[in-house]
Amino acid sequence: MNKEEGKPKESPKEAETKESRVQHETEARCVTAIIIGAGQRGHGYSSFGTYYPSKFKVVGVCDPREYHRYIEVQRHNITNDMVFTDWKEVATRGKLADCVIICTPDKFHKDPAIAFAKQGYHILLEKPMAVTEEDCREIIATCKENNIILAVCHVLRYTPWCQKVKSLIDTGVIGDVVNINHTEPVGYWHFAHSFVRGNWCSENESTFSLLAKCCHDFDLICCWMGDQKCTRVSSFGNLSHFGKEDKPKGSASRCLDCPEAVESNCPYSAKKIYLDHVKEGYSGWPVSVITDVVDIENVTKALRIGPYGRCVYESDNDVMSHQVVNMQFEKGQTATLQMVAFTKRLCSRETKIYGTKGEITIDNNQTTKLEVFSFVTGKTECYKIDDEASQGMLSGHGGADYHLIETFVSAVAKNDPSLILTGPDDTLASHLLVFAAEKSRKENRVVTMGADGSIQ
Ligand SMILES: NC(=O)c1ccc[n+]([C@@H]2O[C@H](COP(=O)([O-])OP(=O)(O)OC[C@H]3O[C@@H](n4cnc5c(N)ncnc54)[C@H](O)[C@@H]3O)[C@@H](O)[C@H]2O)c1
Repeated sequence: MNKEEGKPKESPKEAETKESRVQHETEARCVTAIIIGAGQRGHGYSSFGTYYPSKFKVVGVCDPREYHRYIEVQRHNITNDMVFTDWKEVATRGKLADCVIICTPDKFHKDPAIAFAKQGYHILLEKPMAVTEEDCREIIATCKENNIILAVCHVLRYTPWCQKVKSLIDTGVIGDVVNINHTEPVGYWHFAHSFVRGNWCSENESTFSLLAKCCHDFDLICCWMGDQKCTRVSSFGNLSHFGKEDKPKGSASRCLDCPEAVESNCPYSAKKIYLDHVKEGYSGWPVSVITDVVDIENVTKALRIGPYGRCVYESDNDVMSHQVVNMQFEKGQTATLQMVAFTKRLCSRETKIYGTKGEITIDNNQTTKLEVFSFVTGKTECYKIDDEASQGMLSGHGGADYHLIETFVSAVAKNDPSLILTGPDDTLASHLLVFAAEKSRKENRVVTMGADGSIQ
């Protein structure tokens, strides 16, 4: 972490986090895990076991897709009796490992989470934890009843930059937080990939885009607001552009059939998003999502017959492309969250935190930059947050994935749920705000958060 001017004191929380990492390095106990859903996310977390085999061992895998089971079997030498095609098969076998890593699609989080919690497995659960308020409440209640260590994958919370912002606020350098202005730029081609053509395009098949994309962001806002609870929420949103009325004249139903004159002017062309990159030798995300083996032949075939080759103006999408959420907190503090599809930036958040004595500007790009302007001194302190700990391992979300799984494994090894930064109550509270915001948008009214945690 480089600081370009001055040095604020390290907060007790920050020192505690460092200390816990050092302890983890000397941790002897190896945590065993079963991957439930070996897709993009499941493969990512499982790779922690290849870097730290003495700390984390993947002993089982479960996925209906053979190719993806095979990747895990090869990687971790998983025995045949620990390879499954559906999470229900695992659940019938009694407790086979310390924990499960649940990375199934959004709608299929709740049932396995409840089943495994009842069997005493500790759980790393992909976000959103579930797609309804009732299901989220049930997961939390079941985990609490069974003393389960539950970490929902609010990965950003575990990053050095997020921790640094929290510790700066805690030192009082900007006084009391009064307003947070936070933008989640989804990225124009990422939105087309995931929310127009891909797995998160339909509310019915998956969930609404604010929950899928921004439950992280609600978590961050709540974290930086500290003890103050959100009391009122309002929201507006719309699905713009990605519909039949915006379809260019003369365009085809599939990008590969589109006339060159039309396709070359389309920012969302599947040729541009996938095929052109494969031709240059690229094989990572998002191309890796559309076919198991990435080469020109397979990608071309996927674009000819699969969902990712469809014209974005003729897809089955119905989720919001942009949404604004306004929140009011207990002492009158306010926060605004913007989710926007039409951006150059790809999920690299931009945030302003305004306090009574100063403001913090966060630019979460490749290297996160923080600026702290003090109204007292009239000076700006700048920090560049280099993520040295993750060293390129599990580089998803700028190293955040590494910090999350490292913390979860440590919490299970030590049987210490306090290491999880987003405990069950915090996780439920921030998820409830997302449901409240969506209710506000749909019902066109301000929604009140009851003191008992109800959405009114
Ligand atoms: N934390 C984050 O920042 C973040 C980022 C992206 C995605 N996600 C979430 O992670 C989850 C997984 O996303 P992904 O991109 O890896 O999706 P994916 O489609 O690549 O993986 C999901 C896997 O679950 C498997 N599956 C389906 N039904 C199953 C069953 N009954 N039993 C076992 N496996 C089953 C699928 O075959 C697939 O391999 C989603 O909920 C998603 O919203 C979180």
